[in-house]
Amino acid sequence: MGASRGEFTSRLGFIMAAAGSAVGLGNIWGFPTQTATNGGAAFVLVYLILAFCLAYPAFMAEILIGRYGQANAVTSLEKISRTQMQKRFAFIVGFGGIVCAALILSFYGILAGWMTSYAVESGATIIGATSVAEWAVSDSIARNIFFCAVFMFLTVIIIRNGVEDGIEKWSKRLMPAMIGLLILLIIYVLTLDGADKGLEAYLNPDISRVLDPDLLISALGQAFFSLSLGTSVMVIYGSYISKKENMVTIGAQVTFIDVSIAFLAGLLVIPAMYVALEQGVQIFAEDGSLLAGPTLVFQVLPSLFDSMGQLGVFVGLAFFILMSIAALTSSISMLEGPVSFLVERHNIERKTATTWTGIGILAISFVIIFNIGTMLDFVATLATEYGQPIIAMLCCVFAGWIWQRNSLIEEIKQGNEQVESTLFWKIWPWYTKFVCPLAIAAVFIHSFI
Ligand code: PHE
Repeated sequence: MGASRGEFTSRLGFIMAAAGSAVGLGNIWGFPTQTATNGGAAFVLVYLILAFCLAYPAFMAEILIGRYGQANAVTSLEKISRTQMQKRFAFIVGFGGIVCAALILSFYGILAGWMTSYAVESGATIIGATSVAEWAVSDSIARNIFFCAVFMFLTVIIIRNGVEDGIEKWSKRLMPAMIGLLILLIIYVLTLDGADKGLEAYLNPDISRVLDPDLLISALGQAFFSLSLGTSVMVIYGSYISKKENMVTIGAQVTFIDVSIAFLAGLLVIPAMYVALEQGVQIFAEDGSLLAGPTLVFQVLPSLFDSMGQLGVFVGLAFFILMSIAALTSSISMLEGPVSFLVERHNIERKTATTWTGIGILAISFVIIFNIGTMLDFVATLATEYGQPIIAMLCCVFAGWIWQRNSLIEEIKQGNEQVESTLFWKIWPWYTKFVCPLAIAAVFIHSFI
């Protein structure tokens, strides 16, 4: 297998790809929205703690299982199983993750398509193609289908080219472009009137809310979604890392980038809302909370861009390109989960597997588009609030309880000889065994109640 199944050619390649998967609409749209509705910096604080104390250990479990197995999620989990029962369980968990990735992609592609449609609207406005601009942001089924298909097409093209020429090459190009755009936009927005009020709302914690269970649950869910856990994605990306790399630091770097970009996105979106307020745009819902979700991205922000005069359309273009790029480096990772399974378990040629999986998932997206009022929320909840936490928890159970300790330490030692004497090794095994599964289960049960 080895080289023929592909491998990231450098540490940077993996970091860009994994951070590309992690950083997506969840960071730039979800995180600021959650922060705005959950007490500002109190949410940020809780999020930071949970991301490093719970999501990072679970993330390590997934990438280590992948690197050990050097295979798709199902095969990798099977490799650490010993009994027949465990192997069957491995199949269920691995396959569950793959299905979860496919389901997430089916609705994520629709949201990402909207981002692209708004970018096209700005571009068309700049060149004076008014009818194209109007159509791009019309709420029609045809427009939803068209942009979702365009987005899936881009995802498929990249994944067809494999690990080095597809995932790694494009992540290395797109991630720096995205970060550059984000920083430029932050600098610009912070110079505008009203931005200081936004900064205050963002960075001034309402400490009384820190222990609010709803806030804890939202923060944990957000951290798991953001690190792409429980979807087979990090297992498969881990499987493409060379045995020479130090997994403990690589994992920490990816987590750090993910959290930092979420934080930066907050510095853009929340001040932008207050700038909009200064311009007379409505930013509060009836109950006095900040507007969130689609209203924020597709009404508040575009109204702000409109109020900026001629420059506004370029700012809007930059913002929606930023969103589209962030979404693309995530969607390719979601497609890689099912594709690697079909290629390795069923000997299907990569290009064929990618095209057909893309078509299959797009078909689900179309069904959602035709029933958008009911199905979008349903699929999103099913995959992210049920699927992801359950599978992520089971991956921790695999790493903590099923994987033999000797074999586990051998795996971590590759690329990290001294690991046995580090704090990581003193804490992490115990953590994945008890703390992570219990915490995830607690959150899960609470959200039921
Ligand atoms: N982490 C991505 C985001 O924040 C979403 C994602 C979820 C990607 C699951 C892959 C798998 O937008």
